[in-house]
Amino acid sequence: KRDKQSLADAFQNDFLIGAAVNHRTIVSQNELLNQHYNSVTAENEMKFESLHPKEQLYTFERADKIAGFARENGMKLRGHTLVWHNQTPDWVFEDGHGGIAGRELLLARMKSHIETVVNRYKDTIYCWDVVNEAVTDDGEESLRPSKWLHGIGQDYIEQAFRFAHEADPNALLFYNDYNECNPGKREKIYSLVKALLENGAPIHGIGLQAHWNLFDPSLDLIREAIERYASLGLKLQITEMDVSMFAFDDRRTDLKAPTADMIRLQEERYKQFFGLFREYKDVLTSVTFWGAADDYTWLDHFPVRGRKNWPLLFDTEQRPKEVVKEII
Ligand code: XIL
Repeated sequence: KRDKQSLADAFQNDFLIGAAVNHRTIVSQNELLNQHYNSVTAENEMKFESLHPKEQLYTFERADKIAGFARENGMKLRGHTLVWHNQTPDWVFEDGHGGIAGRELLLARMKSHIETVVNRYKDTIYCWDVVNEAVTDDGEESLRPSKWLHGIGQDYIEQAFRFAHEADPNALLFYNDYNECNPGKREKIYSLVKALLENGAPIHGIGLQAHWNLFDPSLDLIREAIERYASLGLKLQITEMDVSMFAFDDRRTDLKAPTADMIRLQEERYKQFFGLFREYKDVLTSVTFWGAADDYTWLDHFPVRGRKNWPLLFDTEQRPKEVVKEII
């Protein structure tokens, strides 16, 4: 079914090659996904607000479609995500009488959400981002102030892992975060996961989101992060990779196409990244991009609304960029 240019086939002895998909791209990128990817993640469809908008209402239709797509095409499916401070409805944190939900109520809701969702997809989803982005980017505090933290306390993270493990003892359970190569944040993530392991929490991996750009983070920082996390004895996955054409503080919105310099730098970066990933293939089990091709990327709207970006390995016509044949 695939020609020898397939990205997934080229890395079949190394790691999975994944893409974030949504209910539209499983149609509009169907052929591309089947040709080059062997793993998918739902971009939004399995988040709390998508699956469980009201306490007594679950809406599984779109998530089921994505699970069906993965099954029918023989692809792996990563679950994203169970406990996060974003895209979680307000009802979760309210007591229904105008006040805020207390620890016991919040824990009960977390448990029942995790049980229901993990159980529904246990035949298809092989690994879950159980907790997403719980660590602060800077400052002394380690844990991000969130309604989960305030309502339950510091052990909310460990509890989430225990609930997920009870629901599906076979699923691989990941902690997932961004700015994961920044040394300060890296050490906070490292300490958090180390403490979870020391408490006997069922955690099996760390997800490095890898929302990178042409300049940051450096290859050295990426290597250091991989080494540090791997020293915990866990599996690592690249979970949401993109290589933005813009530096973080670049707010230009007028570019209609990437410049020659951008293209050249991005090629260099991708070659370095995949060289590094191959070195660490024994600990790195999956490399997932946050999208399959530049015709659809969340970076067209983040962090600047309506600014076109070209962060992926396939162009806006869903054709492989030049660099693809160099990395495979
Ligand atoms: C993003 C989606 O791509 C967008 O469509 C949505 O509007 C916001 O969330 N880190 C994550 C992902 O863990 O869930 C985010 O996905 C991107 C950053």
